[in-house]
Amino acid sequence: MSAPPMTDADLIARIRAIIQCGSVAQAVPVTGLARSTLKSNLAAARERFPSWLPPSSAAPDWAKGTPINPPSADAVHALPEPAPDKPRLRVQAGSDAPPKDLPDRIAALLMKRSASSADLAANWKTNVETIDAAIASLAANGMRVEGHSGGWRIIKAAPEPAWLAGPLHTFVTDADNTFTFGASGDQHLCSKYERLDVLNSLYDTFEAEGCRTVFNTGNWVDGEARFNLHDLHTHGMDAQMRYLAHAFPRRDGITTYAVAGDDHEGWYAQREGVDIGKYAERTMQDAGRTDWVDLGYMEAPVRLVNANTGKEAIISIVHPGGGSSYALSYAIQKIIESLDGGEKPAVHISGHYHKLWAGNIRNVWCAQTGTTQDQTTFMRKKKLEAHVGGLVIKLTQDPATGAISRFRPEILRYFNRGYYANRWSSSGPINKAHRDFAGIAA
Ligand SMILES: [Fe+2]
Repeated sequence: MSAPPMTDADLIARIRAIIQCGSVAQAVPVTGLARSTLKSNLAAARERFPSWLPPSSAAPDWAKGTPINPPSADAVHALPEPAPDKPRLRVQAGSDAPPKDLPDRIAALLMKRSASSADLAANWKTNVETIDAAIASLAANGMRVEGHSGGWRIIKAAPEPAWLAGPLHTFVTDADNTFTFGASGDQHLCSKYERLDVLNSLYDTFEAEGCRTVFNTGNWVDGEARFNLHDLHTHGMDAQMRYLAHAFPRRDGITTYAVAGDDHEGWYAQREGVDIGKYAERTMQDAGRTDWVDLGYMEAPVRLVNANTGKEAIISIVHPGGGSSYALSYAIQKIIESLDGGEKPAVHISGHYHKLWAGNIRNVWCAQTGTTQDQTTFMRKKKLEAHVGGLVIKLTQDPATGAISRFRPEILRYFNRGYYANRWSSSGPINKAHRDFAGIAA
């Protein structure tokens, strides 16, 4: 006997589950349905409801450089509501209006335990739609609210790295088959050892060199841990994000594309149940800044697309892990060696080690982005040198194959000309040494 045809309401409920889980794969354990079943449901929904689920073949046009984005949280609420044949999903609205800080209250509850939309609606005497809207606003603001086993919960663990999940961004060549971009990382804003003068000088150079894109390899704030408390001038996740939005350089026509490290800002991601990259991007937008784009967590592939032919290659923007090695290039050599056949990017731009370096390993063009933070007390203890600076990089792409045939890294190093008098105070402001670049005061 064949199964009865699926109603629109059932189909919509399944698609809602897929969107709320983030992917078909993640929806399998939540719904208890087979992956093949969910994929066929998705295909059926695309046919039945093309207005909110475009066909998968309708991918954005690469030539326009449009980012490929997954369904947004808003899409959940753009879906038609299920027909009222699912009364178990409905809770009657009560007479009490929900509190204005409902999203915060829900977040506080979900930090402690999981709960379904119906449970939450009953708790605050409201309806499921109000709860779902509050949860969507939490997700839009970077809280990692995920649906598991019929209930919502806030995930306090490192998110999936961007090479596994999230939008795949596109960078298109100029008409002459070249890419020109700035590369900077490990700014560690909110640290007493931040060098905003250097960072602003770098952005002046990026602007002068015609860069419209700057790749940021992570550690844009210092975060907060037991061992850096005395290194900070600004404490607290929200305060650090607002300081980032206030102090990070802004230049007309330049957009910064940033990965989040799994240390420093990543400590917040692991402790507070937030997608810290998205949280930073939202804080920037709240401050009126659209020049900061979140690339995701730890390692983000970006498509390098030729404007003339559409041929492409991959550049990886990476915040690796582990400690510094005995030689400048060694950690990067091991990273490239560890990649499986076919997984190597054409270009690998990485931060974390606070070193400036460029080279070619196993046919991968590599650069390390240095830092705009002076040597800290931690680095001094570990005998680690801070290479203060950044890079301007120009790539030439073969239009016939997409291969990156030329790589021109220009390393900008800010040399220290001062003495370190009174720099190592652990309780007050530090006395920074003067730096300049190429004899021009920063
Ligand atoms: Fe760092």
